[in-house]
Amino acid sequence: MYVCICKGITDHQIKQLVTEEGVGSMRELKNHVALGTQCGTCVKVAQNIINTTIVDEALFKDVG
Ligand code: FES
Repeated sequence: MYVCICKGITDHQIKQLVTEEGVGSMRELKNHVALGTQCGTCVKVAQNIINTTIVDEALFKDVG
């Protein structure tokens, strides 16, 4: 699913950056991709994806 239509960035790319590159905030995400640099409507959705991915990761680690 495209999160940022202006820059063509998907939820999968964001999740991958969180889990593999340790991205934990919008500022860190913007160091990797140009998300949110045009119209800005994707920023809230992207922040939610970062948050839920971090929570999922934390739960997974607890179980393991
Ligand atoms: S949808 Fe991301 S900047 Fe427009």
